[in-house]
Amino acid sequence: MSTSHKDDFDVSEQNLSAKRDGFSSGFGVLAATLGSAVGLGNIWKFPYLTGANGGAGFLVVYFVATLLVGLPVMIAEITLGRHAKANPITALQTLAPKGQPWWLIGAFGMLASFLILSFYSEVVAWVFAYVAKAIGGSILSSDRQVTEAAFGALISDPLQSLLWQWLVLIVMGGILLLGVTKGIEALTKKLMPALFLLLLLLCGVSLSLDKAGEGLSFLFRPDFSKITASVVLTAMGLAFFKLSIGMGTMITYGSYFRADQNIPQTTFRVMSADLCVSLLAGIAIFPAVFTFGFEPAAGPALVFITIPAVFSQIPMGQVLMIMFFVLTAIAATGAMLSLMEVPVLIIHERLGLSRPQAVSITLALLALTGSTCALTNSTLADFKLFGLNMFDLFDFVSSNIILPAGGIFVALFIGWVWGFDKLRHALSNQGTLHNEKLARIVFFLLRYVSPLLILVVMLKGLKLF
Ligand code: PHE
Repeated sequence: MSTSHKDDFDVSEQNLSAKRDGFSSGFGVLAATLGSAVGLGNIWKFPYLTGANGGAGFLVVYFVATLLVGLPVMIAEITLGRHAKANPITALQTLAPKGQPWWLIGAFGMLASFLILSFYSEVVAWVFAYVAKAIGGSILSSDRQVTEAAFGALISDPLQSLLWQWLVLIVMGGILLLGVTKGIEALTKKLMPALFLLLLLLCGVSLSLDKAGEGLSFLFRPDFSKITASVVLTAMGLAFFKLSIGMGTMITYGSYFRADQNIPQTTFRVMSADLCVSLLAGIAIFPAVFTFGFEPAAGPALVFITIPAVFSQIPMGQVLMIMFFVLTAIAATGAMLSLMEVPVLIIHERLGLSRPQAVSITLALLALTGSTCALTNSTLADFKLFGLNMFDLFDFVSSNIILPAGGIFVALFIGWVWGFDKLRHALSNQGTLHNEKLARIVFFLLRYVSPLLILVVMLKGLKLF
């Protein structure tokens, strides 16, 4: 009985994979992967974490974590995904020896995706609300009190917070129902360059402000005395969050990669472009923070209170600010879609439900878990677990625990189970690319360096050791 059930399952799975949607071109792959990486992590999280953790020293640690841990794990995930052509749970089940529970990486990935989406959708909600506010014109000011009050009023209003979040969820659901290629690829391909240009313009404006020098030295002159174990953990968590790794997103996207795509090259390009966008956001924000007397450690509010001040300094500031928040919303959309793709694909392929059904279930669950984050600054302000409100708790548990732990297991899987030969074969596109040296370096990092480094940083950062 159980065997025949399993056969049925395998057959339906094969059917599903025969019909799998995928990215249609090399540029499409790059754009969609970049679309997943670039998002609120660059424009909202990177600046506020850098500000709250002492500036340049944090940046250095983040950079090292990206290179030593982020890059190899990202290459590993995309490779596993492309090889298995399935959702993260099925992928690891297929690739691992029978009976070994590596598929748990996919299961925890699904959990992380709900935790991240719960607060991420709320920050996207703020961005949507800021598009409306920018059109109304009320937030265009360099007066700290005005911009802080506007943000405070938004997040402490439970109804507004919830309604904007639901609007975000409905928009995402609509796009996902159009399918991987048409929805995600078309959107990200067209609009990423525009965001890049607008950020460049913002940097120009910010650099012409009075205290630009102070802002730049905060961002680029490291003071290592501020680096504690928990700062290092936060920086490493950001590296995982930024590259969308440790939770199956890149396994999922890898499953849409074409056989002739150069994985290490694509990964390196995505990482570099992603880093550029973060740095541009930092350069746009910190000179303004120091010039207008904002607090670098203002936390999640930082971008929302600072950016309007920068736009207030230029002609056509209002129109450009509307464009900025629209483009930020679109960048965040690419990332959010990739987050949602993990549970959607798992539900679709594992439970055999249709994509529309999988999308609906994911959205319904999210409306529930997300509302706890939407209400964090109002109705649920006093509700805390482990001393953290739901918004911060979901962020902490996902970025600083599940993602790094996922990274350890992905690295261990390739380093000790899958093995060098399979990795080399996959990275060289079955021998067509000559990158054996690179494969050796990636393998060495995955087998020894990344897992140990992540483990030590986690144990120290969580004060378990
Ligand atoms: N990398 C995205 C960002 O920076 C967030 C993300 C995390 C997306 C994990 C997918 C998976 O905004």
